[in-house]
Amino acid sequence: LVLVVDFGGQYNQLIARRVRECNVYCEVVPYTFSIEKIKEKNPKGIIFTGGPSSVYQEGAPRVSKEIFNMNIPILGICYGAQLMAYMLGGNVKRGNKREYGKTEINYEDSLLFKGIEKKNITWMSHTDLIDKLPNGFKASAFTRDCPIAAMEDENKKLYGVQFHPEVEHSIEGFKVIKNFLYEVCKLSGSWNMDSFIEQKIKEIKEKVGDKKVLCALSGGVDSSVAAVLVHKAVGDNLTCIFVDHGLLRKNEGDEVERIFKKEFSMNLIRVNAQDRFLNKLKGVSEPENKRKIIGEEFIRVFEEESNKLGKIDFLVQGTIYPDIIESGAGDSGASTIKSHHNVGGIPEDIEFEIMEPLRELFKDEVRKLGLELGIPKNLIFRHPFPGPGLGIRVIGEVTKEKLDILREADAIYIEELKNSGLYDKIWQAFATLPDVKTVGVMGDERTYAYLVGLRAVTSSDGMTSDWYKMPYDVLEKISNRIVNEVDGVNRVVYDITSKPPGTIEWE
Ligand code: XMP
Repeated sequence: LVLVVDFGGQYNQLIARRVRECNVYCEVVPYTFSIEKIKEKNPKGIIFTGGPSSVYQEGAPRVSKEIFNMNIPILGICYGAQLMAYMLGGNVKRGNKREYGKTEINYEDSLLFKGIEKKNITWMSHTDLIDKLPNGFKASAFTRDCPIAAMEDENKKLYGVQFHPEVEHSIEGFKVIKNFLYEVCKLSGSWNMDSFIEQKIKEIKEKVGDKKVLCALSGGVDSSVAAVLVHKAVGDNLTCIFVDHGLLRKNEGDEVERIFKKEFSMNLIRVNAQDRFLNKLKGVSEPENKRKIIGEEFIRVFEEESNKLGKIDFLVQGTIYPDIIESGAGDSGASTIKSHHNVGGIPEDIEFEIMEPLRELFKDEVRKLGLELGIPKNLIFRHPFPGPGLGIRVIGEVTKEKLDILREADAIYIEELKNSGLYDKIWQAFATLPDVKTVGVMGDERTYAYLVGLRAVTSSDGMTSDWYKMPYDVLEKISNRIVNEVDGVNRVVYDITSKPPGTIEWE
């Protein structure tokens, strides 16, 4: 086990991810994690992350000095390196120049830089720098503006780097992390997804015993993987509630029921609440109001169902690491553009203990885990789908008629993307139904029918995106099929707006 001690930097989870890519298990803990708890964990290596503070400021995040005497190798990154220098008697000051972005660096001989080109490129992002080394340390890398870009006390196995080896732009940065784990900490790198599953199952079993667990299953990747994982650990002590709000894609509800009830033999309660949601949405057209109504109704339905089950001790949520960042609970505190994440939101006064077995994982790791657990590929690689579902893709007031039209158009769109081999190249694609009717002509007859909007974007995280340059012949085929096969539609348009300034969804 390697512990990543979090000082609030923006790349912290990336560090954890890199460690896992080296097949070494790691956990991220806050810098407030006590020294006793660290000892209990018995880590074979510790990494201090970067962070926004200055070590010499009052109230700056610190750790217990004892950590440096435990004979455990430590790698400090950026703030982590400065903290190590500062706490061990060196000096840290504000640099004359900020270093930001790609920076040329020169490495000296060091176990940490074994097998790495001496003249190299790294990614820097700092204002402070180490200007005096602690006793016993030597400088092991320098850049034009930073004479101590890395330092080490080889005997004590304490290492610090001013740059960010974890980001892709640091050309051989991954090797630096590898060297720390394999060469310095002498770890073998034998951890993998199987071990993760084994470990989580054991953990969950111990925690739950014969208590009752509940899960709000949406059929999305995250909640599905979380539910199957927990089911492997506690079997029938897990009950899943699947609220079908009627805002799902074509056949989606049946598919979810089939997979989890039939294939995985899980306790699944499907609540058919379509009418309830439609009633609540009657006359409402403002997007945030719709989100709020759908979110609240979801909670109400969920509560009603869970009350029928008697005492429940734990509630499983499919929270993954990016959710923690995006909802502002992480370090970024991004402002709310849309009141997202997510409709599975659970009431605050709930008495369950929350269980989030995927909270350290990135999306691609969740997918890998899902495949290992035997969840069908098409569910695992499905494009993201918003909690309020088609409720925010039917633009304006939501009605049953519009939902049905949209479902048909969307199904054709997605089918054609799959037929043409484009589906997996696109991050998210879907149809929308604006509240617009246009005039057309079909078989000499005038038509006056709905317009369908098609959206397809490339992105890595949904935060920014570009519109997908869809081949014309594919667009043509999709447009023809939708107009010919979906009653009530006579025109199709393709959205060519990037985000920003657009958002991915139209509402
Ligand atoms: P936007 O439209 O904000 O979407 O560019 C970014 C990503 O978030 C999804 N999205 C939502 N997900 N509840 C969700 O769970 C929501 O209310 C919601 N709104 C947007 C969207 O599908 C895209 O993947």
